[in-house]
Amino acid sequence: MNITRERYQELQHQIRDHDHAYYTLDNPTISDHEYDSLFQELLSIETDNPLWISPESPSQRVGVKPESDFSTFKHYKSMLSLANAFNDKDIFDFHERTLKNLTDAKKLQYFCEPKMDGAAVSLIYEDGILVRGVTRGDGSVGEDITSNIRTIKSIPLILKESRKPFPRLIEIRGEIFIRKAAFKRLNQLAEQEGQKIFANPRNAAAGSLRQLDPMITNVRPLDFFAHGVGACEGVSFLVLDEVFDTFAGWGLPINKLNAMVDSIDDCLQYFKDIEATRDQIPFDIDGVVFKVASLELQADLGEIARSPRWAIAHKFAAEEAVTTIENIEFQVGRTGILTPVAKLTSVNVGGVNVSKCTLHNMDELKRLDPRVGDEAVIKRAGDVIPKMIRVIPAAGVRGSVVLAPKFCPSCNSKVFINFQTDWLIVNSANEPIKKFSSLYEANLYLSDHPHRELQIKEIKISSPFIKCSGRNLCPEIIQGKFTHFVSRKAMDIDGLGQEILDSLISKKFIQEYADIYSLNKHRLELEGLERFGKKSVDNLIESIKKSAQVDLFRFLFALGIEEVGETTARNLASHLHDFKTISQASFDELLAIPDIGPRVASKIKDYFDDEENQRQLTNILPHLDLILPSAISTQGSRLSGLHIAITGKLILMPRDELKELLIQKGAKITSTVSKKTNVLIAGENAGSKLIKANELDVKIITEDQIGNFLNDA
Ligand code: IVH
Repeated sequence: MNITRERYQELQHQIRDHDHAYYTLDNPTISDHEYDSLFQELLSIETDNPLWISPESPSQRVGVKPESDFSTFKHYKSMLSLANAFNDKDIFDFHERTLKNLTDAKKLQYFCEPKMDGAAVSLIYEDGILVRGVTRGDGSVGEDITSNIRTIKSIPLILKESRKPFPRLIEIRGEIFIRKAAFKRLNQLAEQEGQKIFANPRNAAAGSLRQLDPMITNVRPLDFFAHGVGACEGVSFLVLDEVFDTFAGWGLPINKLNAMVDSIDDCLQYFKDIEATRDQIPFDIDGVVFKVASLELQADLGEIARSPRWAIAHKFAAEEAVTTIENIEFQVGRTGILTPVAKLTSVNVGGVNVSKCTLHNMDELKRLDPRVGDEAVIKRAGDVIPKMIRVIPAAGVRGSVVLAPKFCPSCNSKVFINFQTDWLIVNSANEPIKKFSSLYEANLYLSDHPHRELQIKEIKISSPFIKCSGRNLCPEIIQGKFTHFVSRKAMDIDGLGQEILDSLISKKFIQEYADIYSLNKHRLELEGLERFGKKSVDNLIESIKKSAQVDLFRFLFALGIEEVGETTARNLASHLHDFKTISQASFDELLAIPDIGPRVASKIKDYFDDEENQRQLTNILPHLDLILPSAISTQGSRLSGLHIAITGKLILMPRDELKELLIQKGAKITSTVSKKTNVLIAGENAGSKLIKANELDVKIITEDQIGNFLNDA
């Protein structure tokens, strides 16, 4: 048999199996993106070979027959699907096609809507009374879920009277969904009660609708938006915005983000606007839908096989993708912790190429059990760190199980076992955004991203994590340590990017901190380095020289002492005043400092008790000119002891500088607004903190009032 034909039959078979798993069992076995590409392949073979198409082809029907105890109901008018577009060209082609099909149209108005990622339903109202709720099913026959639909509070049981009379019969088409925040609560509750966790809001919504016991559906936070009309008797409409206005008048929930536009260019702008704010939208959407606004033109255009000719879904780039695991490595961080990382065949996920993905810790590694040669489902959304959701084991003989290494992959030293706490920033859907090893840094990130619904979550790694014992011998630890040392918030040395630093370390020009301050001894060799001309060497030497005059707290922070973030470093400096006192402080003296507990105190003590650290410090100190905490007493300042929060975008002064000034004057900067907050400094576009401050009657000052505020202090 011809190869394409064989492939065509195999595709039909695969898609049928996936439809069954997805639609009937609510248990998809592949990602949406993977399914979409199988379907696209099938459609393209059918376009090239129209004679092969049989009525059994998945393209010739919309879903699969329901398999359940609900009774079935035949839709008066079929529930169609939407054709997909993935880029601007697809949209322009759609527009051209539509104009061509409508011989006399020159311009078209479109109705734009977010594409809800939920479960489609049809609500039948007779003379304004809800008589039936039906799932989409295979598009022509669905399941009668009326008693479940009736439990959804946003769906009116009787329509409200409005200007338009009630039709004798109308099928209101729309989407049942769960909001991100409600989904989070639902899963938290499920976790507490030891029940199954839902994979995503869509699965939770679809699963809830198919509960045989409406009492269960009743406690699920389901919501609804109407997005279309099926059969309709006794009322007519001219344009879509009239339909939606009427729906709203009847008390049906309508998405506020819907918009009527005058051109296809406006449609593309709508897509961009929605995509840019997607993170802040309180429910999941997977694209937007453009519909020809005139119902008369819709009727003229009609439909083909699966979808209406008058509408198209402009999908966001896939947020989930499947790729092959090429290797699993252990990366060594600056503190020596070994993190398992999967190296992947590069794949585009949500518009970004992903070629590696952290597996976080040994627990996660054990849970996922990824092996070389397996496939993995990778997910990311917005700026969310790529996450491995699931592993699809390779067919046949799989690679071997990945075990914790006994020796460091970088320096071959023995590894040992330890425990740690990390701080994870999550968004409102509880998806990970960024991980920090100090709470302070996590708070700093939060205050730099004031408009987003983010929060900090503490993750205690309950299982042991592994750490390299090589310390100053391990190249990875050394590299991480120097990268941190020269970074902006530490010694702030320009011109020592990753590549140059690597090369200087491997040439042994830099083996300890003091070596950085003797780099001018190696000028000639430096100028010989690739992509490192005389000018860059001059700049580097200048930047190193400048960095030698440094605030005591910055230098302490730069040392990368475990558990010593910027705040602790500041506290050490302001309470113990000079380097010698700090380095010789006893455990009890350290404990007496605010914010320093026994764990941090012992880390600091360990650091300064270590002979190798002492040797390196003795070498570097003569190069530095440490600026001790200012002698200005904060006692007299009006800001002394005040809790100040900052929010919004500052125009006149960088946020770091403002913080510095306030701290110098004795204020305590907090990342959240609470009853304890005395003042909130609000920049542009201030969001939830401003609302909270208003609620709590906290004094609010705007950016242009800062000058007076500081002068008065
Ligand atoms: S219009 C014939 N509008 O997407 C037009 N559909 O692939 C079909 N969907 O099953 C519906 N948001 O449930 C329309 N704003 C929206 C939508 C939307 C989500 C779903 C719908 C349908 C699927 C079509």
